[in-house]
Amino acid sequence: MLRKKGMKVINSKFEGIYWLKKGKRKFLVTKNLVPGFRSCNEEIVYVNGREYRVWDPYRSKASAAIHKKVKEFPVKEGDLILYLGVASGTTASYLSDIIGEEGVIYGVDFSASALLPLIQIARKRENIVPLLADARTPSRYINFVEEVDVVYCDVAQPNPTSIVSTNSNLFLKESGYVLLAIKASSIDISKKPKEVYLEEEKKLKETGFEIIDSVNLVPYHKKHAFLLLKRK
Ligand SMILES: C[S@@+](CC[C@H](N)C(=O)[O-])C[C@H]1O[C@@H](n2cnc3c(N)ncnc32)[C@H](O)[C@@H]1O
Repeated sequence: MLRKKGMKVINSKFEGIYWLKKGKRKFLVTKNLVPGFRSCNEEIVYVNGREYRVWDPYRSKASAAIHKKVKEFPVKEGDLILYLGVASGTTASYLSDIIGEEGVIYGVDFSASALLPLIQIARKRENIVPLLADARTPSRYINFVEEVDVVYCDVAQPNPTSIVSTNSNLFLKESGYVLLAIKASSIDISKKPKEVYLEEEKKLKETGFEIIDSVNLVPYHKKHAFLLLKRK
């Protein structure tokens, strides 16, 4: 826990996301929606009476994408998010800070052991709804999820395009966004990551998505890219 003087928090270019300046260093932070809460033993800092959580780019692809200057990060207060591959909720907890009490994250994961810690987190963060289900069969959760502003997908599967496309067709608002993490080695281990990203981008365009931005997550996450998409 840090309460040191000489730190200041400034707005990032994205809503609900800030830079904490500490001397010459800067850290991405969000305002803690649940004071005292930590998701992954991250640093908590207090500046001007407010509590912030440090959002580590090595532990979250969304934070890495912001560090790598993704053009937009379209998550805002009150948003509804369908999160595919939510796991134990590290990244989801930061999105939960950003969307606040009026927003909701429907967090899907097919691994009960991955989801178990999220159930504890959701007791404190009431804007997270954990769903034990396979993102490839959204019919299983169609009755529990409403129309969303953002589909966030980080499933490390060989067919991310098909997964985001099926889920977006069912749940994404016409004006909504998709944030997609791509793990090259889950798709084709024999090809260079850049080749895999380009092939996946081509498939996404053919499926009806516009690629607004694509950032390579090296050095934070090897062989990973992060894409920002909208429907054409
Ligand atoms: C890389 S981890 C996600 C980490 C998480 N997004 C974060 O940043 O905190 C990938 C997760 O996707 C889940 N997953 C993989 N395939 C899935 C599928 N078809 N349906 C649902 N979850 C899946 C895995 O169980 C795993 O928990």
